Amino acid sequence: MTEYVVTGGTPLGGSIQVQGSKNAALPVLAAMATSDICVDISNCPSISDVKHTLQVLRMCGRQVEERAGTIRFTDCITETDISFPEICCMRSGILFAGAVLGNLGKVRICSPGGCDIGPRPIDLHLKAFESLGGRVKTEGDGIISIDGSRMAGSSLWLDYPSVGATENVMLCAVNIPGFTEIHNAAREPEIEELQWVLNSMGFTVEGAGTSVICIKGGRHSEVDYAEYNIEADRIVAGTYLTAIAATGGRGTVTGVSPDKLSSITDILERTGCTVETEGNSISVFTHGRLKRVRNITSGPYPGFPTDMQPQVMAMLASADGTSVIRETVFENRFRHVDELNRMGADILVRGDTAIVNGVPLLRGASVRATDLRSGAALVIAGLTADTQTRVCDNGCIDRGYADICGDLRALGANIYRLDDEDEMETQH
Ligand code: UD1
Repeated sequence: MTEYVVTGGTPLGGSIQVQGSKNAALPVLAAMATSDICVDISNCPSISDVKHTLQVLRMCGRQVEERAGTIRFTDCITETDISFPEICCMRSGILFAGAVLGNLGKVRICSPGGCDIGPRPIDLHLKAFESLGGRVKTEGDGIISIDGSRMAGSSLWLDYPSVGATENVMLCAVNIPGFTEIHNAAREPEIEELQWVLNSMGFTVEGAGTSVICIKGGRHSEVDYAEYNIEADRIVAGTYLTAIAATGGRGTVTGVSPDKLSSITDILERTGCTVETEGNSISVFTHGRLKRVRNITSGPYPGFPTDMQPQVMAMLASADGTSVIRETVFENRFRHVDELNRMGADILVRGDTAIVNGVPLLRGASVRATDLRSGAALVIAGLTADTQTRVCDNGCIDRGYADICGDLRALGANIYRLDDEDEMETQH
């Protein structure tokens, strides 16, 4: 267990370089199971989901060598039974189903875990594999086995533009014969990153970033080496911009493309902040108390990201007036509301909508991170509160932030973490 001890009241300022993207890194790493060529990946964030994913690749048979700033992958994967605990503990573990199935013709995998933000079914993934000719069998204990011996490219429709299902089909289809077309594909920037890395490995994928993606099965070039640099994390960038705005500060995040954050910077502008962009940096300046934002609705990209909903809610908890936030992506993504209310926020939930009545000041309290982004939201709330806040966390924040304390301290925040071992040391 970790505790983040946050003392609020300091407006954040300065500049921070944003880490590599979690949601790009995880599918890019799953792509390492599609081929045996040597690949160097750089700017991979040092977060627990990445550590688990590297472990999965090693257990599959890939050689993984971590050097300063780069991870090198060599050797081929040999394992089709990948019902490893490391897969079960993260949602993105399911991406290995497509990668291994396409590469080795069958897979046995466990249902994925991940953040507790409501039911997270995988029916769209399985239906897509079936459209490609895969035969899916569900065993007991959440184990799924898929026989891909008769798989071939085909045109398929996703009932929802699921990020994971889109990536899973891409990872599978690159290795099965024929053409595959994914209609109603997710358009998140991370899908484009997956396309770039697959193409650099010698596959042929087109259309990422639009709602139709075309994949020509099989490697079509004699590439025997590829390299890829993971782009900056737009959600981490958004988290820090939101923290700066919430504390009444002025500061800059660097290394991130402003285009990918427009739905977030739009909200910052609606609160009365000034947002300036230059090249790959975004600055936010506050002018007094933030204003309410009447209607925010999360949705698939290019809509407002559900992964920023908790942090934006924490920011608006002490804005002037009533904000309304609708969550349309996940069913149960308001678990941070009770914790924010423990800090003096006045937030009501009605179905998929949260009504945030801004209060003048939050108060410090002991609260609990219920998932990755709710943990970040509670840290932001703590930075705005009048007294000390302790955010108790069972490893959620480490799943997506490489060093949230170091980053926020670089912006002037008063925050430190206490891990179980620290407590033990103090006690002895
Ligand atoms: C990815 C992101 C996550 C983000 C989410 C939505 C990664 C590693 N994770 O998660 O941070 O919050 O996109 O932007 O990239 N659904 C089904 N059946 C399925 C698959 C999904 O009903 O088979 C539903 C989900 O329950 C959810 C919605 O579709 O309500 C969106 O899920 P999806 O886009 O698949 O999210 P993930 O890929 O899991």
